Amino acid sequence: MLVSIKKSYEEVSKAAAVLVAERIRRKPNLVLGLATGATPIGLYQELIRMNREDGLSFSKVTTFNLDEYIGLPRTHPQSYYQFMWEHLFRHIDIPSRSVNVPDGMAGDIEGHCEWYEEEIRRKGGIDLQVLGIGANGHLAFNEPGSSLGSRTRIKTLTEQTVGDNARYFKSIHEVPKTAITMGIGTIMEAKEVLLLASSASKAEAVRAAIEGPITALVPASIIQMHRKAYVTIDEEAASKLTHTFSG
Ligand code: F6R
Repeated sequence: MLVSIKKSYEEVSKAAAVLVAERIRRKPNLVLGLATGATPIGLYQELIRMNREDGLSFSKVTTFNLDEYIGLPRTHPQSYYQFMWEHLFRHIDIPSRSVNVPDGMAGDIEGHCEWYEEEIRRKGGIDLQVLGIGANGHLAFNEPGSSLGSRTRIKTLTEQTVGDNARYFKSIHEVPKTAITMGIGTIMEAKEVLLLASSASKAEAVRAAIEGPITALVPASIIQMHRKAYVTIDEEAASKLTHTFSG
């Protein structure tokens, strides 16, 4: 695990973009796993800039998003599908057929989850998976207690996550209570993972994930078992770490 502590959120975003860009340049048909939420927005902005100014092309890249709310149509402003188009896809040269976000309106959600796993396999697996971390240590929508071997499936969100996400909806009652999420097992099969975190609100989760025991109660702690995990965080998110990590 390579833990890299940066002075600011901007530096976290830039360092993450440099890593993603390097992987795309090395393998133009990279299979890239993506996350939503506030944390990767700076990374996406930097990738958009690199696409416009530095000739970084996504024309052969395939993406798979981690998760999606169940019951929100893709046109809903708070669907993760919309989020990804808004914050990344519509600004870069990726063909729409190459982006994959779970469909929270699929008629047969369980069948859709199996199909999603199969699609990832068919593309040769995820090369690099971008991750955020929840304040409760969740990874994607794998809440505390999720099986560390889990696959893409339906999950019920905890009250904390529903509360955290309520800021994006008109009222807490509108926040969906269930979601489709890649499993921990699915995420761990990515050849490389890049976990990003910023701000003091993540400091305890980051400490538990990096320095605590590996436990299903802190799903993100499983990345200690990944052979190629990069953890790029700002000083506030790193403020509860007791070990000294460099650069
Ligand atoms: C979203 C996802 C979530 C977020 C996490 C942190 O696709 O996988 O696990 O990464 O909830 O969210 P932010 O970045 O908004 O703090």
